Amino acid sequence: MEKFYITTPIYYVNDKPHLGHAYTTTAADVIARFNRFLGKDVFFLTGTDEHGQKIEEAAKKRGMTPKEFVDSLVPTFKKLWEKLNISYDHFIRTTDPKHVKAVQEIFMRCYERGDIYLGEYEGWYCIPCESYYTEKDLIEGKLCPMCKREVVKVKEESYFFRLSKYQDKLLELYQERPDFIAPEFRRNEVINFVKQGLKDLSISRTSFKWGIPVPINDKHVIYVWFDALTNYLTAVGYPDDTQRLNRYWPADLHLVGKDILRFHAVYWPAFLMSAGLEIPKRVFAHGWWTVEGEKMSKSKGNVVDPFEIVEKFGVDQVRFFLFREVSFGLDGDFSYEKLVSRINGELANDLGNLFNRVLSMVNKYRSGVVPSYKGEFTELDREIKERALSTLNKLEDIIPKAELTRALDEIWQFVGFVNYYIDRRAPWSLRKEGKEEELDTVLYSMVESLRFITAFLYPYMPSSSEKMAELLSLKKEVSQLRAQEFRTWGGMKAGVELKKREILFPRIEYDKETGEVKLAKTKKG
Ligand code: MSP
Repeated sequence: MEKFYITTPIYYVNDKPHLGHAYTTTAADVIARFNRFLGKDVFFLTGTDEHGQKIEEAAKKRGMTPKEFVDSLVPTFKKLWEKLNISYDHFIRTTDPKHVKAVQEIFMRCYERGDIYLGEYEGWYCIPCESYYTEKDLIEGKLCPMCKREVVKVKEESYFFRLSKYQDKLLELYQERPDFIAPEFRRNEVINFVKQGLKDLSISRTSFKWGIPVPINDKHVIYVWFDALTNYLTAVGYPDDTQRLNRYWPADLHLVGKDILRFHAVYWPAFLMSAGLEIPKRVFAHGWWTVEGEKMSKSKGNVVDPFEIVEKFGVDQVRFFLFREVSFGLDGDFSYEKLVSRINGELANDLGNLFNRVLSMVNKYRSGVVPSYKGEFTELDREIKERALSTLNKLEDIIPKAELTRALDEIWQFVGFVNYYIDRRAPWSLRKEGKEEELDTVLYSMVESLRFITAFLYPYMPSSSEKMAELLSLKKEVSQLRAQEFRTWGGMKAGVELKKREILFPRIEYDKETGEVKLAKTKKG
């Protein structure tokens, strides 16, 4: 069985989870679920990044040990993933003893290769971003170019990784494997960055203790990014479980936000080359969300709390919105109005109404029982069939590449076509004209199309898809549906009794002033 190993970044455990975190993880979930649908052996990894100066300082302030502190934070992430219906296979923590061992092992491999040496680091460091900067990177000589907070001067003994040695090898990698970095415009950014020249990277610190010790010198702890990136290897058995490692490594897809692409597309492959390990197949960087035109930030008080929006609007409504509203890969803007408008316009109207129409017509004309297919009568009967099958082919091509918005567009075009098919084939007229055989084919095609839609939407909206499957009386749980059941038209069994209509996506009203969400008075969909 083909494998598919997909990862999210591991999240800084002391950040309160926000929309941005929910975004990367939900995207990975959509891709993981789709790959399971394709019948692949999926391994989906997420977790928490728990070392570093920031955490050591925050724990101290609270009078806790760093370990007690991080232990107290992990459950919030796990709760959020449960709430968002994230089907991860493993949750890794950088404080896991196995991970500590893996990081030390890879450090030693690079060291033995001659790629790590002891020197002195003098420069600027942003503690919140855990990133090093040179003087010229800074804004106004003192602010971090990423988060705009004040940086600190560091001057200390440090181990360095010979990143400069890998400049040409990295450029070769980008040339030979054009798919390694996506989207394309991000790939160009990375190439330009590397072409400007790479400096050796400081990969250890001595001024704090909360980290993984350098195996040959316990005055030093390993730089958090060297530590964190290694999680992708730890989780698949590195260094001891070679069978598992051979099965899953290299990763098929690292999904990251644009801000951390450089770490994944430059540093990470260089570390791996040095350690003699294979390079992941692809790194995809998505864009950032702003909120009503502004950057999300604690000080502005506009951070979107994923727990809250899921509670208010529904998990699938939020999941759908994230990939429908903004082209995955580009930056986008969140607003409550846009969320409500997608829910009412596309979920309640386009999709919810489609289900209602089909169920009520099968109910009216065939007492709720799926008729048998009597062959094609018109060009439209042929077209609906072809579109269902070709939509699946397209999804198969684009979802594994993380083109999540394009894929949702394809699905929505199909939803639109099924609505159009019903309008044009007008079952009510066939009844009037006494064309009962033809009516069977049209009703069957409508129901069979819903079966396809249920499967197509499963990765994006797993619990709604489950409800759709119940309405269609599909025997299997949606998570067990497989693409091979959708290679031909006709999987829906004739004689099956459909369930009564149910409102899949209620129309809602949102009061901007109070933040209150209510069901709309005129219920449709
Ligand atoms: N701990 C590191 C990752 C180490 S991976 C080996 C880290 N963690 S993070 O918690 O700060 O960020 C995690 C993810 O959230 C990143 O992919 C980042 O791009 C994403 N987002 C954070 N804010 C975001 C938005 N406003 N919008 C979209 N995604 C954003 O980085």
